[in-house]
Amino acid sequence: MPPPFHLVSTRLQLVTGKGGVGKSTVTAALALASARRGLRSLVVEFGERASMQDILDCGPVGPVPAYIGRGVWAMTLQFGQMLREYVTEHVPLPALAERLLGHAGLDRFLRACPGVSEALALDALGRLALGRRGEVPRFDRVFVDLDATGHALMLLEVPRVLDELLGAGPLRRTLARTSFVLGNRELARLHLVTVPEELAVQETLELYHRLRDTASVQLGALVVNQVPVEPIPSDLTTAFEKVVNALTRLPEPLAQDVRLAQACLDATAEAQAHTQRLTTRTRLPVVELPRRAALLPSLDDLIGFGEQVLEASPDTGVVQS
Ligand SMILES: Nc1ncnc2c1ncn2[C@@H]1O[C@H](COP(=O)(O)OP(=O)(O)OP(=O)(O)O)[C@@H](O)[C@H]1O
Ligand SMILES: [Mg+2]
Repeated sequence: MPPPFHLVSTRLQLVTGKGGVGKSTVTAALALASARRGLRSLVVEFGERASMQDILDCGPVGPVPAYIGRGVWAMTLQFGQMLREYVTEHVPLPALAERLLGHAGLDRFLRACPGVSEALALDALGRLALGRRGEVPRFDRVFVDLDATGHALMLLEVPRVLDELLGAGPLRRTLARTSFVLGNRELARLHLVTVPEELAVQETLELYHRLRDTASVQLGALVVNQVPVEPIPSDLTTAFEKVVNALTRLPEPLAQDVRLAQACLDATAEAQAHTQRLTTRTRLPVVELPRRAALLPSLDDLIGFGEQVLEASPDTGVVQS
């Protein structure tokens, strides 16, 4: 029997990378572009930060999916809320569930337990991607803005680690559901974001190898963000070289401009070398996104960025939910 239609598509797309490289920007871009394709798209962030408010200039984003316009919803996943969802789903008596949830000591204990937060997050993501038991999922695509790479690794490795520790029980069943989603190349994908700089590229290559060796999640695109734009059109390069050769003879204000342009060209060449390194050292489709001069990339920029990533890492199936 073929699987239900809603299971034949890359429903869950995770985004990770070093701090500040543009993870939230790429997550927003993916959601916008996928919404433009008619897919109900949800952005999920962890903790109290709601980056979408700045990036998409929308109203408040909290623990419940909020419609933020252009076919996109957004929410944050917070520990208290994830615990509530988990307990109410698994404890059949509402009064008992409330007592457990009201127990401050238990809450503190669970927050401090290694792996619990990640297990709850995986549970929540599994529920968002596949829907509650017996229900059709509310969203066609769930784009998850993971914190920096350490968090992503923790999250992806938790099912395997806990699998060895847990006996049979609801948490094991829960993790089995999410492991199924994460490990299924039709359903989930992890995009890596980086910038064309030495440290970031090195870290990305290390992450890539580690994920390839240990994680079962399918990798999507490798996004090289904030690529400097060529300061001089390529057909003018020869003319510019002549100007550089005559630098000592140029009047100072002009010479200064030429030196600046030369520095920009060097930065562009360096960025190209970094991208080249990523292309040859990984087997991922590499997508280059230009660095925009404005503080925040515009909405059109974002949609274009998202399209580029979706094209590089095409969907695995049809959606009908
Ligand atoms: N292509 C781009 N061109 C210009 N600015 C960009 C681009 N991509 C991202 N930025 C800007 O860079 C900054 C960092 O981007 P973003 O917040 O998406 O990174 P992040 O990886 O999510 O950061 P954090 O690790 O802090 O969550 C933001 O100010 C964003 O507007
Ligand atoms: Mg961010």
